[in-house]
Amino acid sequence: MGKSVRVMLAAMLATAAIGNASATNIVQGQQLYQMHCAACHGARGEGVMPDAPKFRMGERLDQPDMVLMQSVKSGKKTMPPFFGILQDAQILSVLAYVRTLR
Ligand code: HEC
Repeated sequence: MGKSVRVMLAAMLATAAIGNASATNIVQGQQLYQMHCAACHGARGEGVMPDAPKFRMGERLDQPDMVLMQSVKSGKKTMPPFFGILQDAQILSVLAYVRTLR
């Protein structure tokens, strides 16, 4: 196999792996969301608890993931802290899913 063919194959495999990873993250994010967040934020982001942002309406989602992740880790008002319960990568997966609810 020529060197350029091998380089091309490696690039294609890498692209496929990244594509799968982001799809998996949204699926994982959905499962974690249903387990840890839906009770307050609603299964479809409709907001169940009175002060919980309605993600379906895009509430609070104008902030970057890193800011939202910090709130989820430390907790905010009646939202409990998820530090030690969810890892950063898991919170980012949940936020990726939450952004699909809009
Ligand atoms: C016990 C109810 C409750 C649970 C469980 C909960 N939240 Fe919240 N969440 C809230 C409330 C209430 C607020 C609004 C806090 C405020 O007034 O700033 C909030 C705010 C947020 C915000 C906006 C933070 C900001 O800085 O504006 C995000 C993002 C969020 N929650 C994500 C999540 C995720 C992800 C989960 C699950 C891992 C989760 N929440 C679980 C009640 C909850």
